[in-house]
Amino acid sequence: MNGFDYQKDAENIVTISMDLPGQPVNTINKAFIDGLEATLQRLERDEVAGVILTSGKDSFLAGGDLKEISALSADTLPAFAATLQRLKSCLRRLETLDKPVVAAINSTALGGGYELCLACHHRIALRDDKSRIGLPEVSLGLLPGGGGIVRLVRLLGLEKALPLLMEGTRLSPDRALEAGLIEELAADRETLLSRARAWIRDNPSPRQPWDEKGYRIPGGTPAHPKVAQMLMAAPAMLRKKTRGLLPAPEAILAAASEGALVDFAAAQRIESSYFLQLVLTPEAKNQIRFFFQLNGITGGSSRPEGFAKTSVNRLGILGAGMMGAGIAYVAAKVGIEVVLLDRTRQQAEKGKAYSAQVLDRQLSKGRITREQKDDLLERIQPTTEMNDFAGCDLLIEAVFEDRELKGRLTGEAEKNLAEGAFVASNTSTLPITELAQAVRRPENFIGLHFFSPVDKMPLVEIICGQKTSPQTLAKAFDFVQQLRKTPIVVNDSLGFFTSRVFSTFLDEGAALLEEGVDPLLIDNLARLAGMPVGPLTVMDEVSQQLLVKVRKANRELLQERGEVLEENATDRVLAVLTGSHGREGKAYNGGFYDYPREGRKTIWAELYTLFRKPEVEISRRDIQDRILFRQALEAVRCLEEGVLRSVADGNVGSIFGIGFPAHTGGQLQFINSCGLQRFVARARQLEQLYGERFAPPALLLEKAANHELFI
Ligand code: NAI
Repeated sequence: MNGFDYQKDAENIVTISMDLPGQPVNTINKAFIDGLEATLQRLERDEVAGVILTSGKDSFLAGGDLKEISALSADTLPAFAATLQRLKSCLRRLETLDKPVVAAINSTALGGGYELCLACHHRIALRDDKSRIGLPEVSLGLLPGGGGIVRLVRLLGLEKALPLLMEGTRLSPDRALEAGLIEELAADRETLLSRARAWIRDNPSPRQPWDEKGYRIPGGTPAHPKVAQMLMAAPAMLRKKTRGLLPAPEAILAAASEGALVDFAAAQRIESSYFLQLVLTPEAKNQIRFFFQLNGITGGSSRPEGFAKTSVNRLGILGAGMMGAGIAYVAAKVGIEVVLLDRTRQQAEKGKAYSAQVLDRQLSKGRITREQKDDLLERIQPTTEMNDFAGCDLLIEAVFEDRELKGRLTGEAEKNLAEGAFVASNTSTLPITELAQAVRRPENFIGLHFFSPVDKMPLVEIICGQKTSPQTLAKAFDFVQQLRKTPIVVNDSLGFFTSRVFSTFLDEGAALLEEGVDPLLIDNLARLAGMPVGPLTVMDEVSQQLLVKVRKANRELLQERGEVLEENATDRVLAVLTGSHGREGKAYNGGFYDYPREGRKTIWAELYTLFRKPEVEISRRDIQDRILFRQALEAVRCLEEGVLRSVADGNVGSIFGIGFPAHTGGQLQFINSCGLQRFVARARQLEQLYGERFAPPALLLEKAANHELFI
């Protein structure tokens, strides 16, 4: 029946299996609501002992139709609001049927999918590591508008529900049980259904806790002194985290706390009203577009077609330093055998010890068992012998950033690899095309740029050299996905995509300092614009010493090609710092900041004498725009020059790799969101005031003239 299969057994227990025709996953759209309404009518008429809700598809139920939501405008909002109201009434009818309703969650139930579960009296999930349960709407710039806020707050109390709602945590079934999102786990599908039946038999006429007489929200309403105290601090804490850039968590906080003061029906209206405000915000539209682009990438949009999926069984890593050790850990974690080589036994062992440290932390938190730890460590073989690379189907080089050294070692290591193996470098700056000359078959050579710390950063930038074959790219893409990371694919160019754009962020910081702006203001305004840390702080962390080395290496490289690397603000500012002042970075003598052994860092006072010009007045808006526009313009140049192969790669790379603010949807979507013509006009203004680096590139002008977007 309309995608809601209705089966009644001898005990009058009805199993409803959602399987909407023509859709790969069940989503909440008009057809869904029609089907649910019809099913409710039948249930209300029928003689029923209880209801089991499950799904006939691989996933339980996805949330609302995001395509529809992202296309909403002020004109279409009233009709959408009416549909939302219909959904809410259906869910209310379901939980007030006077018959037990059990959600048999056979796989992932996120967003609207979990909101449906919340309107059931009991929730049992299939124990499956791949399933996720929760209300992640906040990550799309939205809130759970199908009663999710109202019910979760009433189920768990504000203190427990708020973090789940505001962070959009997706929990495995095990963790969902711990958090109180579900009540039971089942080992297999049969048990899932038999447990659901048993619960129905034991609870012939359950009511939702919030429909019981004398019900109180666990922990109390905002009128309770303890809750009031928490809510008093919450907005300030949230602001500190989001810097006021994300409307969704603010709306969630408001909807949850206001809704907790009133009755269920009024709380539902409050939730809807905040939801309808959010759906039209640019932040929601940006984040939804980002979600689609990320899905496209995960689905293989930048993987060459026509090559069978591959996986790496044995991985060789050259260099067991910070990056090599991190890569070894993430590979061993997904079951790959790792050979980790360094110059001395001690260094190789130290690389392996990194995994042991990470695992110990997880063990102490009860996230893994001792057996799991031992198994993972067993897979990492530290060595100093190239012969041990025998049988490896991939070699990743992660030694010092030195062309000669990298070339020599990869050439030597390659001889030992398995037939058909491919070779990658984790270089952050050296051209892949040139490094590829060191191996016998440059078509098998590729760049795999990991980010630090490897186990936390979700992105890997895959760099194709001039000779890299599509087959090698396909293998590299599969490997990154095997590590459960997100691959973006770019072409070879100085700094590739992420390092190149990131360096413009740092350079704009240096330029502002050079012009006389207060250094603290530079870092603070960058953060207020949404960057995770200010450019001066970043330079201290990376170290001025390393930045100078990279610039020098790049200059020499271009010189060899007969090109010139123009001096920029970074060069000039770093020359002052590292010159007679010896400010080489946080790890050395301090950089833009002093790092006292105890207490917080403080700005290096001498900076004010060296650079600060109190007469200089650059508006805060200009400073923030310079920081964001500079990066977005560089991303356009990367697209124009073919360094970026797609807009999606640029947006995903800028958020996951560079830390560009998430609410913008990425550097290229940021331009769409400003409006191309407005962006061009503002870039021209900045160009006039601050220099030609803000000149809009031809591709941008062309798109603006044709009223096209970056998609
Ligand atoms: P690191 O200095 O921590 O590690 C390099 C390792 O290579 C050391 O353990 C060293 O003993 C080993 N090594 C040097 N010569 C060797 C030889 N002849 N035989 C065997 N091993 C040798 O450096 P890190 O940070 O791990 O960087 C490695 C590579 O990754 C570099 O190319 C770097 O540019 C790149 N990278 C670094 C990132 C970072 O955040 N540190 C991020 C992305 C890439």
